[in-house]
Amino acid sequence: MKGSPTVYDFKPADGQDVAERYRELLNAADALTADEPDAVANMANVAALMWEFLPDLNWAGFYRVAPAKVSPALELVLGPFVGRPACIRIPMGTGVCGTAASSGATQLVEDVHAFPGHIACDAASQSELVVPVLRDGQVVAVIDLDSPHPARFTQADATGIEALAALLSTRI
Ligand code: SME
Repeated sequence: MKGSPTVYDFKPADGQDVAERYRELLNAADALTADEPDAVANMANVAALMWEFLPDLNWAGFYRVAPAKVSPALELVLGPFVGRPACIRIPMGTGVCGTAASSGATQLVEDVHAFPGHIACDAASQSELVVPVLRDGQVVAVIDLDSPHPARFTQADATGIEALAALLSTRI
């Protein structure tokens, strides 16, 4: 192989406020995905970046909108993530992820146990943020973050992940 492989060393600086941390996360995600057409590679690297930049998570990753196994109906299918193995397929409209996908609206859930139909992939999860990724007005995936802490996510997190979802619209 010619040359040496690239070493990526994206790490959050100490003492940042939430908005600054998301600006850095977005810059790193932009740098890693801008010239790469492979959706799986881009989701994998962004899952790793979210894990690296955002404290107090127990799961960070993607579900993609894809055909069901035995019908052409669409459902959510597990994509690249960091965390414990998770549910593979989620029907549209079910759980936090399915609700985000079918409504096209961010779901900021302070207490997952109070969310009707919440799917507990990891019993440690207490709060969750799910943001749809839209392309040409259609939901093509969702970004899912779980935390073992109640009310871990704020509107600043929702705004940051929505900006990330917009960046990734045509890259995943
Ligand atoms: N809790 C999600 C399922 C996915 S896992 O959190 C990774 C839900 O209710 O849709």
